[in-house]
Amino acid sequence: MLNITETINSEHILTGISLKNRHYLTKIDVFDTINSTNTYLLEKINQKTASGWVCIANQQSAGRGRLGKTWYSPPGNNIYCSLFWRFEKLPPTMSSLGIAIAIMLAKMLQEFKTIPAIQIKWPNDLWVNGKKLGGILLETKSSLGVVIGIGLNLSLPTNKNLPQATSLHEITQQPENRNDLIALLLNTLCDQLPLFENEGLRLFIKDWDKFDALTGKEIKVYTHKMEIHGIMRGINEHGALILEDDAGLLRYFSYGEVSIRC
Ligand code: BTN
Repeated sequence: MLNITETINSEHILTGISLKNRHYLTKIDVFDTINSTNTYLLEKINQKTASGWVCIANQQSAGRGRLGKTWYSPPGNNIYCSLFWRFEKLPPTMSSLGIAIAIMLAKMLQEFKTIPAIQIKWPNDLWVNGKKLGGILLETKSSLGVVIGIGLNLSLPTNKNLPQATSLHEITQQPENRNDLIALLLNTLCDQLPLFENEGLRLFIKDWDKFDALTGKEIKVYTHKMEIHGIMRGINEHGALILEDDAGLLRYFSYGEVSIRC
């Protein structure tokens, strides 16, 4: 494990935010320990809360993942960051926003961290060599706006058995400056979320095939209601997964979990 001693510092982060993007960020709250950065923002926001409130923590005692899972959130090494964002136009569907953000982050990691092997496992897992590098949890409270929660592994403890997870350090073997990376992440979101608001998923989806880890593979899709086998046939214009089932029928899923069939 790489020992990162650098503490999260909102001033440092702000120096990395472009002038153009600073007005999007209204507040940056930093905690050493919190239950969950998403939960924190969801509890705080109300009708009057301005867009652009950020919460970042060094560790989470109750980090949450998609579909009710726990997000492993040890101290010192990773990014746990949430951003409250208001869409002025009609709120997007969560599934299309999740896909768009996954593409934004995959491009960011490919371009700025030179990770050619970065992939997206539908709907929005950031994947490298079949292991999870990061994840995105989108949550709303009535129609107020969206809390965008991002977890990114910078370095993971070697004494833990985490066969499904990887970290930036494992991939690049380079030390990362956590504050710089958080600034890069926030710049990316501030640059791209307004584009998503104006253009929708259409603008992002053209890059999907470059990152898609699953198309053509035999997979299982799990939803709350069912588990279904088939072959992944890509996504549609709304970001829904297209599965060709064992009877040759195309089925569409806008949420769920996927595993690759062995
Ligand atoms: C997933 O299941 O892939 C989504 C993981 C999202 C984790 C992040 S860490 C920051 C924010 N706070 C949380 O409790 N979860 C998200």
